[in-house]
Amino acid sequence: MYHKTYHARTVGDARIPALGLGTWQNTGQNCVDVVKTALQMGYEHIDTAQAYGNEEQVGKGLAQSGVSRDAYFLTTKIFPDDLKFKPEKLVEATHKSLDNLGVDYLDLLLLHWPDERVPLSETMPALSELQKQGLTRHIGVSNFTIDWLIEAQRYASVPIATNQVEFHPFINQRTLRIFMENRHIPLTAYSPLARGEVFKNDTIKAIADKHSITPAQVSLAYILADKNRIAIPKTSTIDHLQGNLDALNVTLEADDIVKIDGLVRQDGRNVEHPDYKPEWHD
Ligand SMILES: NC(=O)c1ccc[n+]([C@@H]2O[C@H](COP(=O)([O-])OP(=O)(O)OC[C@H]3O[C@@H](n4cnc5c(N)ncnc54)[C@H](OP(=O)(O)O)[C@@H]3O)[C@@H](O)[C@H]2O)c1
Repeated sequence: MYHKTYHARTVGDARIPALGLGTWQNTGQNCVDVVKTALQMGYEHIDTAQAYGNEEQVGKGLAQSGVSRDAYFLTTKIFPDDLKFKPEKLVEATHKSLDNLGVDYLDLLLLHWPDERVPLSETMPALSELQKQGLTRHIGVSNFTIDWLIEAQRYASVPIATNQVEFHPFINQRTLRIFMENRHIPLTAYSPLARGEVFKNDTIKAIADKHSITPAQVSLAYILADKNRIAIPKTSTIDHLQGNLDALNVTLEADDIVKIDGLVRQDGRNVEHPDYKPEWHD
């Protein structure tokens, strides 16, 4: 059973609960039920995006949970199609998310992918302004390389509370991770279970057996062992919720971490977008 110790990553005045629920590809009534159950179980952080097409269902789950608005951390992302990173469109898109989700404010609003068509000198001041107006408590980015992050920080007038990128035992992101740590930007690990690949890995399975935990918990505990990292495992299966949440209370041994560090592969990246292609360096 999850004991509500407040595990959080801090940046500026942001406190981001270290484990959140991913919702990509979870739609319809199942999405409502999973979000509702997760909050009732003790999840404090929910991740969605306009591009997932499920903000309304996520919103219903939030409302039906009976959990008060200040007891959970809600992230959504604006996708850069249709030049949505232009200031006026960004404002419009944010209001759309608030309406879809049925909330008065977001905790974290992210730019979903970097987009070359609209300069960050336009987008970041507008995004910062949304925070100042109280539509979101924090702002951040996703799928940003070091070069993009430098530009984002240059033009933001408030802290960048996270960069959400793919991270799990098979992908490196080493230079990006060091850069973000030095700049005090927490890393939110998406696809933290490598979309199921961790369940097939013998090293991870052996560590799971040794500690009598699940491979999912090994991967999540590995990610969370670094205090600059947040993990947002997705599940559409109510039976998987509790185990994933309990990973917050798992501590791996130093030699487990070394073994998992050794699983990095050149082709470890799973997520590419056909239209938005940041140039990753490792
Ligand atoms: N910013 C971005 O561009 C971006 C890109 C990708 C993802 N994301 C975010 O990150 C979240 C997570 O990433 P992801 O969805 O790509 O993959 P993931 O969380 O690495 O893996 C999800 C897969 O693992 C399974 N799973 C989860 N917990 C399990 C458990 N305890 N036992 C067995 N199977 C389990 C799920 O199946 P079940 O559903 O059956 O449990 C699903 O097939 C997304 O949902 C989304 O919110 C963001």
